[in-house]
Amino acid sequence: MIAPSLLSADFARLADEVARVADADWLHVDVMDAHFVPNLTLGLPVVEAIEAVSPVPLDCHLMIEAPERWAPGYAEIGARNVTVHAEACTGDPRDVARDIRAAGALAGLAVKPGTPLEDYEDVLRDFDTLLVMTVEPGFGGQAFIAEVLPKVRRARELVDAGHLTVLVEVDGGVNADTIEQAAAAGADVFVAGSAVYGADDPARAIAALRARATA
Ligand code: DX5
Ligand code: ZN
Repeated sequence: MIAPSLLSADFARLADEVARVADADWLHVDVMDAHFVPNLTLGLPVVEAIEAVSPVPLDCHLMIEAPERWAPGYAEIGARNVTVHAEACTGDPRDVARDIRAAGALAGLAVKPGTPLEDYEDVLRDFDTLLVMTVEPGFGGQAFIAEVLPKVRRARELVDAGHLTVLVEVDGGVNADTIEQAAAAGADVFVAGSAVYGADDPARAIAALRARATA
């Protein structure tokens, strides 16, 4: 699955930018609060407006503190998948997953490049997606951190060995070159911001990424 990240779009033309990626699988929306990450993007009212015009289901990536307080709201406005950061959860991440699912969305758990998967292996089965960050969260356009690939492979092994219905997602620095490495490591969902919105023709960029991921 290809999930273009709206972070690299023109925020003054959101409806048009959403329409340009209509043949994507999910539309990735990066919510940042200037506390969990040193950047501020958009919040619930704007995401709700995007959801109303998007032909593609929303994949909301919450890079915020206190995700337990906000995550169910994104499910309520119709997001398909709502992902919270493991590092931001103060309580049991499984409680957040339960609340997101109760509000009608898939529940995702995200880990930063330096966060070991071992700490979260036991809670994985209570989530629907696992987002492995391949850059430090906060900004688009950064270089893919190849050192994270063993963690993607480990995630694939855990999911397969445990017969879990968890999609492994990679986010950060994914382009026509790096997507092959991520696909080979076993990722299912590929987030790409600058590689899609930085292209002259986002629809063609999505098709090219999809072809490379399945090559
Ligand atoms: C970074 C965001 C990513 C970002 C990816 O914190 O989570 O989704 O938009 O952008 P690229 O694909 O340009 O690295
Ligand atoms: Zn993201």
